[in-house]
Amino acid sequence: MISLVVCGATGRMGTLICQLAEHSKDWKVVGKVSKQSPLETSIQHGEVIIDFSLPEATNHHLQLALQHKKPIVIGATGLSSDQMGSLKEAGQTIPIVYSPNMSVGVNLMFQMIALAAKAVGKDYQVEISETHHIRKKDQPSGTAKMMGMIVQETTGVKPPIQSLREGDVVGDHTIVFGSPSEHLAILHRAIDRKVFAEGALKAAKWIVGKKPGLYSMADVLSLVSS
Ligand SMILES: NC(=O)c1ccc[n+]([C@@H]2O[C@H](COP(=O)([O-])OP(=O)(O)OC[C@H]3O[C@@H](n4cnc5c(N)ncnc54)[C@H](OP(=O)(O)O)[C@@H]3O)[C@@H](O)[C@H]2O)c1
Repeated sequence: MISLVVCGATGRMGTLICQLAEHSKDWKVVGKVSKQSPLETSIQHGEVIIDFSLPEATNHHLQLALQHKKPIVIGATGLSSDQMGSLKEAGQTIPIVYSPNMSVGVNLMFQMIALAAKAVGKDYQVEISETHHIRKKDQPSGTAKMMGMIVQETTGVKPPIQSLREGDVVGDHTIVFGSPSEHLAILHRAIDRKVFAEGALKAAKWIVGKKPGLYSMADVLSLVSS
């Protein structure tokens, strides 16, 4: 049984992660962190931390994980470039999994995007669109930004991203590679938030005992990176 601290435990994602962990023999939830219940009070009891809070809190949680030398899985999105820099630096001391999307499907889609971008280069126009529920704070989504980054790293061109906020949509992402003669579209639709919570727990189990480093879900899921 692995002792787990969940940051953002009162939120949409944190609540689900706690529920899944509490219904499993593999986990013991020893800390539920929110604004009212800071990480300082539970961190020493946890073997691993999952952070699905918001960017303003994630930095503080990362610093505490560093101080206590605890592995941490970060799913919070909307991190600034300075925060991404702090993640890289912290990865020299503790193991970290960071992913703006913990689903198997999206991480497979990242691989497909890299493959398609490599094949068509600058010859095709690329457009990304994403739709999420109206309470989502960051825009564009971290997943859409990652999709754009994969294309840019391969082709040198940053594709436009269109964001929509509608009702209770869990998360839709589409990328289109278009030429005058054809369109290739790759679509991912998250139907249930459980897919992210299950991914976060998988990452947390994987990271316990790993060497320091900044890892991705591709590492956790053993997806071949191209
Ligand atoms: N990586 C993925 O697969 C994935 C999937 C879905 C969502 N996300 C991301 O995960 C994050 C959380 O999403 P959500 O929908 O669960 O958000 P949410 O419902 O708004 O929950 C946010 C949580 O963070 C806590 N929090 C906020 N500020 C805090 C602070 N200063 N100190 C401690 N705790 C604080 C909140 O606590 P209070 O209740 O006390 O305010 C709440 O528990 C977002 O960045 C979202 O984009 C990632």
